[in-house]
Amino acid sequence: MVYHSYLLLSQGPNLIMDGATTSVQAAHLYNGVDALWKVLFGSHIHVGYYPTTDRSARLADAQEHTIDKIIATAGLTKSGVRQLLDVGCGVGGTSIHIAKKLGCRALGVNISPEQVASANELALQQGLLPSQVRFVVGDGLDLPQSVGTADA
Ligand SMILES: C[S@@+](CC[C@H](N)C(=O)[O-])C[C@H]1O[C@@H](n2cnc3c(N)ncnc32)[C@H](O)[C@@H]1O
Repeated sequence: MVYHSYLLLSQGPNLIMDGATTSVQAAHLYNGVDALWKVLFGSHIHVGYYPTTDRSARLADAQEHTIDKIIATAGLTKSGVRQLLDVGCGVGGTSIHIAKKLGCRALGVNISPEQVASANELALQQGLLPSQVRFVVGDGLDLPQSVGTADA
């Protein structure tokens, strides 16, 4: 925990991002505290959704609820989504969850090489082939053509 406290303190001033934050600064932020994000958030770097006032659910389950809520709200279906594009994919948990749930392929793009490595490792651990789910380094503000097309 000392290590993570050190990371938080050393990165403190850089933890604030706004409209003027460049892609390079964002990559630096997420690379520098990759381990800290994992401890705090697990494989999803977003908040959890709790359908009721009961907060006893595990954070990971609540985070997956958030994704499921987005899937439902966006009307994403198994038949409608063959290829998912996840820009700013974090450490991959969200792409993996959606790929499994909808049975689609997923490509995650992230400016942080460290998070891309973590995400590809997580996909392998979960038994997913790179032809199903893969993660590449790229800037969402200037996506390479190789990203191709996606349904969602
Ligand atoms: C708040 S996290 C969310 C991660 C993921 N969507 C999730 O919910 O778990 C934001 C992510 O966007 C990535 N990111 C920030 N700026 C980016 C850019 N210009 N292009 C691609 N990824 C970017 C960061 O590296 C980080 O992984």
